[in-house]
Amino acid sequence: MKKLALALSLALSSTLVLAAPPAPKAAGIESKDYQWAKMEGELKEALAKKGDVKRGQDTYEICGACHLPTGAGRSDGTFPQLAGQHTTVLIKQMADIRMGLRDNPTMYPFAKEMTDPQDLADTSAYIQSLCIPIDHGKYEGADAAKQIAAGKDLYEKQCKECHGANGEGNKEKFYPVIAGQHYKYLLRQMTEIRDGHRRNANPDMVKVIKPYTNDQLVAISAFQASLSMPGSMCKPKAGAAKKK
Ligand code: HEC
Ligand code: HEC
Repeated sequence: MKKLALALSLALSSTLVLAAPPAPKAAGIESKDYQWAKMEGELKEALAKKGDVKRGQDTYEICGACHLPTGAGRSDGTFPQLAGQHTTVLIKQMADIRMGLRDNPTMYPFAKEMTDPQDLADTSAYIQSLCIPIDHGKYEGADAAKQIAAGKDLYEKQCKECHGANGEGNKEKFYPVIAGQHYKYLLRQMTEIRDGHRRNANPDMVKVIKPYTNDQLVAISAFQASLSMPGSMCKPKAGAAKKK
């Protein structure tokens, strides 16, 4: 019934010809009433379900088209690394994208299909169970050592408290895992968070990152992309280990 109403409203709109309904747009952090990680709707419902890793392997299949079957995403940063991410973070991001708190026009048509809270819980349980690939995109400049050292200083002063010494985040608090994430993706997200474009951002983090210069964001992304989380990383491939 809903689909029919939608098709009708599209047919009747004379100014716009759209193949699919556009993603919604919620004000989020731009609004003075914004409450980060508000426990209601899909977030609350999906978090209350027990995720089934085996079922999640099936529901994840469509996601793997972009994020890859391993969850590794792409080192050019277009598609983020997802493997090993906390279920809480995954569910929150999906719910935010679905309700228009975080823009993601590429993924929205797929995210909007995952309406069942059980599917969300299962998919997230499966993703969290995957090991974090170690061949992700890193900072590749000749000055990498200098950038990483400068980034480490900043990170330890202002970010470690939430994202952890090894980039492990905090599952209970919805703080994302950063270890194993692609450098270019990190840089893009931090720029968007600083500039107010990621509207589901955490206000306390925004306060910290607001005064950062582009150069500082490069350094801190270089450092974050160098982190690894003990016990959660994939084993090096047999061939790669021998080469060393
Ligand atoms: C057509 C490609 C595509 C498909 C299919 C897709 N995604 Fe994504 N996804 C993206 C892109 C692009 C981003 C990053 C957007 C940005 O830069 O903010 C993303 C971001 C995410 C994030 C946020 C990651 C983070 O670190 O904050 C999650 C979680 C996610 N996707 C989960 C999924 C799940 C679950 C599915 C399957 C239902 C899925 N995606 C299907 C393209 C896709
Ligand atoms: C008060 C806790 C807190 C502090 C301090 C903090 N962050 Fe965050 N950060 C978060 C939360 C929560 C998110 C996820 C926001 C959301 O819900 O979408 C996040 C998201 C991110 C992301 C995006 C991750 C992704 O997968 O999309 C990056 C990168 C990041 N933070 C880096 C930093 C850096 C660098 C600093 C220090 C300058 C920092 N954070 C300080 C809590 C914090």
